[in-house]
Amino acid sequence: MTLACAVSKPGKHRVPEPKQQLILGAHFPSMGQHIAAWLHPESQIDAGQNFSYFTRLAQTAEQAKFDFVFMADAVATRDGNLEALSRWPQYMAHFEPITLLAATAALTRHIGLVCTASTSYYEPFNMARLFGSLDHISGGRAGWNVVTSANASASFNFNRDEHYDITERYQRAREFVQVVLGLWDSWEDDAFVRDRASRRYFDPGKLHRLDHKGTFFSVRGPLNLARPPQGYPVIAQAGASEDGKELGAETAEIIFFSQQRVAAAREFYRDVKGRMAKFGRAPSELKMLAGLNPTVGKTMSEAQVKFDHIQSLIHPDVGKELLSVDLGGADLSGLSIDEPIPDHLIPEKTRASMSRLKTVGGAAQQEKLSIRELYERYAGSRGSYSVVGTPEHVADQMEEWLTTEAADGFIIQASYLPGGFDDFVTLVIPELQRRGLFRTEYTGRTLRDHLGLRRPGNRYAQPGYSHSPEAAVTNNIAT
Ligand SMILES: Cc1cc2nc3c(=O)[nH]c(=O)nc-3n(C[C@H](O)[C@H](O)[C@H](O)COP(=O)(O)O)c2cc1C
Repeated sequence: MTLACAVSKPGKHRVPEPKQQLILGAHFPSMGQHIAAWLHPESQIDAGQNFSYFTRLAQTAEQAKFDFVFMADAVATRDGNLEALSRWPQYMAHFEPITLLAATAALTRHIGLVCTASTSYYEPFNMARLFGSLDHISGGRAGWNVVTSANASASFNFNRDEHYDITERYQRAREFVQVVLGLWDSWEDDAFVRDRASRRYFDPGKLHRLDHKGTFFSVRGPLNLARPPQGYPVIAQAGASEDGKELGAETAEIIFFSQQRVAAAREFYRDVKGRMAKFGRAPSELKMLAGLNPTVGKTMSEAQVKFDHIQSLIHPDVGKELLSVDLGGADLSGLSIDEPIPDHLIPEKTRASMSRLKTVGGAAQQEKLSIRELYERYAGSRGSYSVVGTPEHVADQMEEWLTTEAADGFIIQASYLPGGFDDFVTLVIPELQRRGLFRTEYTGRTLRDHLGLRRPGNRYAQPGYSHSPEAAVTNNIAT
């Protein structure tokens, strides 16, 4: 975690104490996180495919010294009730994020560039090449959010009739990540000597074939790209199931998670970090970032007016569609929004995300909220922590989450963009900086530097490594 010196009290000669600082990522889901974001008069109506708009957002985040921007992704449009979806365009038309971030790299200098790519629908060789290239292009600022794709729609675009079940997709993801890491080690850091005098471009002893043969993948290697500047681009993950938490504890350096209460976040944080020891990892090697959906005003009433305004824009069909997706496709179309969802429509299991089902289904069953009350609760937060208030109030909550080990930082998910994010940057960031909770300048060059993560060494260059193929197992090469 990043450390800064707390300012000592005036007039006293105290030794400054190191103060833990927040890690902040900026999530830009097209027009915003709220299901009615595109109806907000200040949101960017063509956001998903407007490059200059995205550049402006990324530059704003960089001026505010964010650790990274984050682009989520799915390799399909969202499926469901087309009538409702035609009023909820999020992710229906948006840029492929690795391409987008590669272009953004040229127009930014410091900020980390993190995006999603699915282990269910890519090949490890492509993935290693794509994120390795992004890391080179950006000078060491790339991060890969490893998802298994909870959304079944993607399977129909990739030669399949149905999605992998959750166990299989996480087994595949685990092997996938090991192969990608192995491919990034194909070349030792100093393999390319590029020496005209000796007419030698690379040192053949520093080139390594992976020769991976596993359950899901057979990949010979080596990668046709020099080792990335960060060694490995930063690995992010966002799984919430048992399988997801295990994969995160084993391989992730950032975890995104959604919790609505600080106590539940603390439990989740302890749970995941507690799993790391069995993989030989220290808790500090993983930064856990909670989703935060802030609505900020100079006064509480100003913030509340902004919140009420966007809530008033929700179309009831879209509200129902949001709930239907989280309830595994339950048909709510004939129901009144002023009544609760009947229990028989709430499934116990779904092939989609169980964590979302538990959150929404649990609230529907236990609190007996009306459909309207239920969709209003999740319209902006989508299961993350929602806070409405003054900069001081928002900063108080963030400080509490940080100092009580509920999170190492946050991924900011503004309800509408750019306005909701600009409010956070102009009002909350200075308050966090005043408290010494957030950096005022970048001190490092790479995303790993920003996050306080070490650069991993190349497995083949470790002491004790033998170059004979028989030694692959003792060298701990992914098999
Ligand atoms: C902040 C955040 C960002 C996420 N981004 C994506 C994404 O871009 N693509 C995706 O398919 N899933 C994304 N997810 C969903 C997770 O990858 C995961 O599927 C979900 O949390 C359910 O966990 P499970 O897969 O272990 O059931 C995201 C989740 C969170 C909390």
